[in-house]
Amino acid sequence: MKRIVSLNINGRTVEEAIPDNLLLVDFLRERQALTGAKKGCDGGECGACTVLVDGHPRLSCLTLTASCAGTEIETIEGQARNGRLSTLQRAFHENLGTQCGFCTPGMIMAAEGLLRDNPDPDEDDIKSALGGNLCRCTGYVKIIESIMVAAAEARR
Ligand code: FES
Ligand code: FES
Repeated sequence: MKRIVSLNINGRTVEEAIPDNLLLVDFLRERQALTGAKKGCDGGECGACTVLVDGHPRLSCLTLTASCAGTEIETIEGQARNGRLSTLQRAFHENLGTQCGFCTPGMIMAAEGLLRDNPDPDEDDIKSALGGNLCRCTGYVKIIESIMVAAAEARR
């Protein structure tokens, strides 16, 4: 069965007829050409598909698009503005928080959700917020450092 949903993606209103069982990660990647959210495990275990729904991190592989009707979705593609990387994107780049980059969009969106709730997180806060995001490359130390740097910069 199909239904028409309207939602806002990175500031743009989208209205589309979708099947009830269409996952948000597939809607974003296959219908909106927003491939930043990755399908790492497709089962809620890696965090690579994390996006923000109304400002809160959500695993898009476990979220039905139809349940997001009327919400605001933010993906990694919407983070850079006017050709400038976001504070978190720049911090990941400058502090070696990213290597192969597969986990990075999910890491940054989870961190973005954290910093909106808590602009001054300590290391444990960051570890807790990123507890569901896996990285096979960095060993996490540089990711945590990057988020600390971004948080400090945002507070200045
Ligand atoms: Fe969603 Fe891994 S693809 S948690
Ligand atoms: Fe490669 Fe995290 S940078 S998986």
